[in-house]
Amino acid sequence: MTSTLPFAELHLHLEGTLEPELVLELAERNAVTLPFADVDALRRAYAFSDLQSFLDLYYANMAVLRTPEDFADMTRAYLARAARAGVRHAEVMIDPQAHLVRGVPLEAVMEGVDDALSTSERDHGVSTALFAAFLRDRPEGEALDVLHHLLGMHAPITGIGLDSAEAGHPPSDFVRLYDRARAEGLHLIAHAGEEGPPAYVVEALDVLGVDRIDHGVRSLEDDALVERLVAEQVPLTVCPLSNVALRGVDRLEDHPVLDMLDRGLNVSVHSDDPAYFGGYLDDNLAALTDSLGMTPEQRARLAANSIRSAVLPADRRAALL
Ligand code: ADE
Ligand code: ZN
Repeated sequence: MTSTLPFAELHLHLEGTLEPELVLELAERNAVTLPFADVDALRRAYAFSDLQSFLDLYYANMAVLRTPEDFADMTRAYLARAARAGVRHAEVMIDPQAHLVRGVPLEAVMEGVDDALSTSERDHGVSTALFAAFLRDRPEGEALDVLHHLLGMHAPITGIGLDSAEAGHPPSDFVRLYDRARAEGLHLIAHAGEEGPPAYVVEALDVLGVDRIDHGVRSLEDDALVERLVAEQVPLTVCPLSNVALRGVDRLEDHPVLDMLDRGLNVSVHSDDPAYFGGYLDDNLAALTDSLGMTPEQRARLAANSIRSAVLPADRRAALL
């Protein structure tokens, strides 16, 4: 279903757009052996019990990404699909460390991703921004080295994020990384309150100084935090199909996103890792309509929130609102 309302996709991991068909095509191109006989076997593995069970497959499948062309093909496939979903602006994350540790140079990653992003507005009518996401279950020193390398090569990044296994890895472990990024004028976002407690959302705001929280659903467990998030209109990029796939929420019918919206929180809806969680932005919106009875007015507020929470030049923002 194509939406006529312009949406911004603000929470999207490029590596999470690897559809099983593309995984197998790239495996063949690069002579990478995978433990799956065919697309059906791989698709059957896209079923998870929690965040870690997903991350295990997400990182394993990255083995097929080796060359700039691979990264460009993955990124182009996402942008074409996002355009069909009604996305007019996409802020996408890439996990540089996940590729570096496999011996893929940052230059290859950035060349391929940038190739696709730089022609996206012309090819798909989708403007873009790239965020380098750092893995919170790896040491901060490594993240600082990678940020230094990215800055030295003038990588085309607009900001940094923080992702991977959340529990036991608080935002405050990365204060030097975020201070450095802020000093460079980068935008700051972080996953918080997906599996981790509301205190991690507070830390991301107060210790890291982020502009936006990825997920943040567990903020609902802390009334004072909710009050603050409403007062400050902190953007929360919520991903309903992801939360159900990773069992943070039992069923879509129980998802709090529309309650969050109606309580005055600045929430918007995104697809996170659409190849793994059952769908893209349009699929998430259709699921909210079907399971929660989302009204056209709520849908319009989610669209407007996504545009106002994006990192956009004033003229592009005005054109999309
Ligand atoms: N990396 C990719 N998707 C993620 C998610 N939903 N949470 C944390 N890290 C991720
Ligand atoms: Zn995410």
